[in-house]
Amino acid sequence: MSHFIVYIDLCIFAIFLLSQKASCIDPQYVACAPRYCGGHNITYPFYIQGLQESYCGYPEFQLTCTNYTYPVLHIPDNDYIIQEINYTNRSLRVYNAAVRSPHQSGCFPPVRNISLEPDKFGFGSVSNLTLLSNCSAQLPEELLKYRTGCRGGGGWDLAVAANDTDLSDALGVCNTSTAAPVDLVDGDVGGDKYEELLRRGFMLNWKAGDCSVCENSGGRCGFNSSSYHFKCFCPDRPHVWRCRSDATRVAHNTRPTRKTSSV
Ligand SMILES: *[C@@H]1O[C@H](CO)[C@@H](O)[C@H](O)[C@H]1NC(C)=O
Ligand SMILES: *[C@@H]1O[C@H](CO)[C@@H](O)[C@H](O)[C@H]1NC(C)=O
Ligand SMILES: *[C@@H]1O[C@H](CO)[C@@H](O)[C@H](O)[C@H]1NC(C)=O
Ligand SMILES: *[C@@H]1O[C@H](CO)[C@@H](O)[C@H](O)[C@H]1NC(C)=O
Ligand SMILES: *[C@@H]1O[C@H](CO)[C@@H](O)[C@H](O)[C@H]1NC(C)=O
Ligand SMILES: *[C@@H]1O[C@H](CO)[C@@H](O)[C@H](O)[C@H]1NC(C)=O
Ligand SMILES: *[C@@H]1O[C@H](CO)[C@@H](O)[C@H](O)[C@H]1NC(C)=O
Ligand SMILES: *[C@@H]1O[C@H](CO)[C@@H](O)[C@H](O)[C@H]1NC(C)=O
Ligand SMILES: *[C@@H]1O[C@H](CO)[C@@H](O)[C@H](O)[C@H]1NC(C)=O
Ligand SMILES: *[C@@H]1O[C@H](CO)[C@@H](O)[C@H](O)[C@H]1NC(C)=O
Repeated sequence: MSHFIVYIDLCIFAIFLLSQKASCIDPQYVACAPRYCGGHNITYPFYIQGLQESYCGYPEFQLTCTNYTYPVLHIPDNDYIIQEINYTNRSLRVYNAAVRSPHQSGCFPPVRNISLEPDKFGFGSVSNLTLLSNCSAQLPEELLKYRTGCRGGGGWDLAVAANDTDLSDALGVCNTSTAAPVDLVDGDVGGDKYEELLRRGFMLNWKAGDCSVCENSGGRCGFNSSSYHFKCFCPDRPHVWRCRSDATRVAHNTRPTRKTSSV
């Protein structure tokens, strides 16, 4: 009989301990679990608007998970779809969302000049493709090969690599131009290649506070934009830089929580 009572007591004690532990896990740590979007795990320094809290990343690194199928990064004044993301070397391969929207061959919505915040993003391997429109009706013979197949209708008339010697002639007969970053390889001339080039995308590097010290101590990184401070969210509470070493064990026992909404 007494054995039985001791057993019950132990059970209650264990349940009490477990629930204590569960309810003590810091909500910011829970909120900043990586979230899946279109084949990618999104985590610091990025966060998905509506799926993760803004303190899980930096304001400039806000993504949207469009239609729950692909992560989109907004860099003034364009939307870029993320094709690849590598947190180790802090690089992204992106392409302009304009080529994804419904369009007739060669005629898609405007691609605008990109403007990077140099302290946040830098170009990886890129050259520019100059897109030209409002071109004169009579094009000189040497420019015909740059035609995109979309004339009038608000699309781009010509696409010329920014290092092409014909570019100055093209700028002379067209009134509007935009430079679109691309990964040019040899033989990429001709306006008929431009949709393929834009779809291939280009590399970006990002700059943000290093997360590895916090992550290796069992934490999840974040940023407080009102105090403008890097945060290391740990199972016990937010820390400045890294979790206490005894928090690591708890972290490994904690599965990323699938939350339905955190808005
Ligand atoms: C995303 O994270 C989950 C859980 O850690 C893992 O199983 C999956 O392979 C990851 N996916 C990618 C694309 O990294
Ligand atoms: C969203 O996904 C649905 C189903 O996959 C598709 O029919 C629809 O066209 C998509 N919408 C956009 C804006 O991509
Ligand atoms: C980073 O890794 C990606 C593959 O995920 C690779 O394509 C890219 O060249 C690498 N960038 C640097 C700067 O090493
Ligand atoms: C990310 O980049 C690192 C360093 O360049 C490389 O070793 C690693 O394989 C890349 N990861 C992926 C998933 O491509
Ligand atoms: C491409 O154009 C952008 C401005 O639109 C500029 O910042 C960048 O330096 C250019 N890149 C090259 C390789 O010329
Ligand atoms: C280009 O601009 C010039 C001067 O503003 C104008 O005369 C010409 O009609 C414009 N051409 C086109 C195709 O818009
Ligand atoms: C052509 O130029 C006009 C102004 O001259 C501008 O409003 C219009 O957006 C341009 N068209 C394109 C496709 O860029
Ligand atoms: C894009 O930038 C180029 C050079 O920086 C400039 O000549 C052109 O007018 C810009 N285009 C638009 C649409 O702002
Ligand atoms: C333009 O740059 C690309 C990639 O760097 C190169 O392959 C191509 O030969 C260059 N074209 C000219 C005309 O310099
Ligand atoms: C951010 O910092 C401010 C001021 O220190 C504090 O009041 C606020 O609670 C912090 N927010 C988060 C999400 O930690």
